[in-house]
Amino acid sequence: MNFELSEEQLMIRDAAKDFAERELLADVIERDTKSIFPTEHVKKLAELGFFGIMVDPKYDGSGMDAVSYVLAIEEISKIDSSVSVIMSVCNSLVNWGLERYGTEEQKEKYLKPLARGEKIGAFLLSEPEAGSDATSQRTTAEDKGDYYLLNGTKNWITNADSASTYIVIAQTNREKKHRGINAFIVEKNSEGVTLGPHEDKMGMRSSDTHSVMFNDVKVPKENRIGEDGFGFKFAMKTLDGGRLGIAAQALGIASGALERSINYAKERKAFGTELSNHQAIAFKIADMAVKVENSRNLCMKAAWLKDNNKEYGLATAMAKQYCADMAMEITTEAVQIHGGYGYVKEYHVERLMREAKLTQIYEGTSEIQKIVISRALLR
Ligand code: CAA
Repeated sequence: MNFELSEEQLMIRDAAKDFAERELLADVIERDTKSIFPTEHVKKLAELGFFGIMVDPKYDGSGMDAVSYVLAIEEISKIDSSVSVIMSVCNSLVNWGLERYGTEEQKEKYLKPLARGEKIGAFLLSEPEAGSDATSQRTTAEDKGDYYLLNGTKNWITNADSASTYIVIAQTNREKKHRGINAFIVEKNSEGVTLGPHEDKMGMRSSDTHSVMFNDVKVPKENRIGEDGFGFKFAMKTLDGGRLGIAAQALGIASGALERSINYAKERKAFGTELSNHQAIAFKIADMAVKVENSRNLCMKAAWLKDNNKEYGLATAMAKQYCADMAMEITTEAVQIHGGYGYVKEYHVERLMREAKLTQIYEGTSEIQKIVISRALLR
C-alpha cells in the first residue's frame, strides 16, 4: 500500500487550498448570509481546470484522477461548500455520465464547454414524490418519433438557474417500470422550461437550488443518453461516483471544523490556561481527529478503486454515509468547543455545521447509503 500522494496530486491539493484561502474565505459569510451565487469564483475555478477535473483532455478536461478530485473538493469544502457542491455536481453528476455514456456528438456539443467550465450543468432526478425512491419517476418523456415530449416537475435541483445543460431522468414507458426510464440532455433555455423560486436553504445558501418544471418540452431524439430504457441504471451509476464528491465534501467540512477547533483551543484561555490544556477539550480534539482520518481513508480508498477501474459503488456509499454522519458529529463538537463564539457567524463553525447537515441528505440520505451497503453485503 502506498499512502503517498504524487507530485501532481499535491499540486492540485495546494492549488485548491490556495484558491479557497485567497479567493473564497474573505466573503464566504456574506455570500452565505445573502445567498449570493459565487459567479466570479466559479469563473476563476473554471480557469484552473476544476470543472473538468477528471475529463479526458481530448474533451477539454484536465485529465486528473479521482484522488486529485477528492483532494480538491476537500480543500474547497473546508472554506465554502456552496462552491464545492457546484463543482461536484458538474464534475461527477454531469460530466462523468456524458463522457462515459454520451455519443461523440453529445460530447462535442455538451461535454466540452462543460469541461472547460464555460457552461454549468445540473442533474435532475429528484421529484416531489421521488427523492429517495428514485424509481417512482412521475416526469414523463413521451416518444413522439423524432423527439420526446417532456412533462413534469423536478425538485431540489442544485445549479438549476446557473446551469445551461441539464441531465434529466424521466419515465418513457411506465409499464416497464424502472426499465422504461431514460436520461436526456436538455438545454435549460428550451421552450417550456420554467423554474420555481430560489430555495431559502439552511446551509450551502449561495449555491442555487430550485424546482424545475417541464411543460411540453421537445427534446431531440439524439439527446437521449444510452439505449432506450437505460436511464435508471445511468442515474444509479452516476450517483455511485457522485457520492464520492459528497463524501469528500463532508470530509472537507469536518477537517475544516477540526482545524478551526485546534486553533481556537490553542488561543482561548479559560480557568487560567489555554483550552487545549483541559482534557475535556483535548480529548474531543483527539476523537474528532480520528474520525477525520477515517473519513479521509474511506474517500481515498474509494477514489483509488475508481482510478484503478475496480468496482467502487459499495466503497463510495460507505464513504458517503460515514463522512456525512461524522461531519455532523464533528461540526457539532466544534461548535461546542467554541462555546458562545461557535454559535455566531464570525467563527465559521456554525456554518460548517449547517453545511454538514446537507451532506447527510443529498445524493442519497445516510439511510439510503445503508440500503446500498447492506444490499451489497447481504444479497
Ligand atoms: N449500478 C447499476 N445498476 C444499479 C445500481 C447501481 N449502483 N443500483 C441499482 N441498480 C439497478 C439494479 O440492478 C436494478 O436493475 P434490474 O432490475 O435490471 O436488475 C435496478 O437498478 C433497480 O434497482 P433496485 O431494485 O435496487 O431499486 P430500488 O428502487 O430498490 O432503489 C436505491 C435503489 C438505492 C434506493 C435508489 O433508488 C437510490 O439510490 N435512491 C436515492 C436516489 C438519490 O440519491 N437521490 C438524490 C438525487 S441527486 C442529488 O441530490 C443531486 C444534487 O442536486 C446534489
